[in-house]
Amino acid sequence: MFITFEGPEGSGKTTQMNRLAAWLRERGYDVLTTREPGGTAIGDRVRAILLDPVATEMEAETEALLFSAARAQHVRQVILPHLRRRPLGVVLCDRFADSTLAYQGYGHGLDLAQLAVITAFATGGLKPDLTIYLDLDVEVGLRRKALAAGQDAAQWNRMEQRALDYHRRVRDGYRAMAAAEPQRWLVVDAAQPLEEVQAQIRQGLAPRLPALDRSPVAGGR
Ligand code: TYD
Repeated sequence: MFITFEGPEGSGKTTQMNRLAAWLRERGYDVLTTREPGGTAIGDRVRAILLDPVATEMEAETEALLFSAARAQHVRQVILPHLRRRPLGVVLCDRFADSTLAYQGYGHGLDLAQLAVITAFATGGLKPDLTIYLDLDVEVGLRRKALAAGQDAAQWNRMEQRALDYHRRVRDGYRAMAAAEPQRWLVVDAAQPLEEVQAQIRQGLAPRLPALDRSPVAGGR
């Protein structure tokens, strides 16, 4: 089973993913946690290009292709081999193709239909069985991030305001994608306390998990 985590900045994806992984492992699932971009030696080098301070002028098209290039490697080298360990192989991935649609598509305004073709090529058509979307007001999320980084609030206001509209478009994009495909997306309000967010994730996931029955008949595929 392939489960992805999506959300705007500061929504707590990584913490929630790691807690869910621990819970699933306690229940006997064979869980791999990974993240985008990265997770492979090639992906990590692509990530370094994306994060390099000299790349501030990078075009949105270049960004979309680099994230997709890292993803192509990640899918084939890391994700698919683990998913083949059926029926108990579970992959939890911190961001996936929906991030490209949200950030480079809705955020930067690249054509969504073209991006869908590029991401389908990169993923080889692999789609998440479930996407857990942690929804959060963008200002709350950016403030959480700034606080964690030790910036003071006044500085945050000046520095981040310009980016606010961009992050709002990203969030609106996520919400539009979730509304268009409600059977794949589980939307959780990330403004709630951490424990409550985790409880709702488990509640939403539980009925979709593959059965843990290891008898030869049930596990015979
Ligand atoms: P990351 O280090 O994953 O931090 P977080 O997920 O905690 O915000 O951030 C990666 C950044 O890259 C994040 O701002 C989202 C962005 N991104 C894209 O723009 N497109 C993509 O396809 C992916 C995977 C990430």
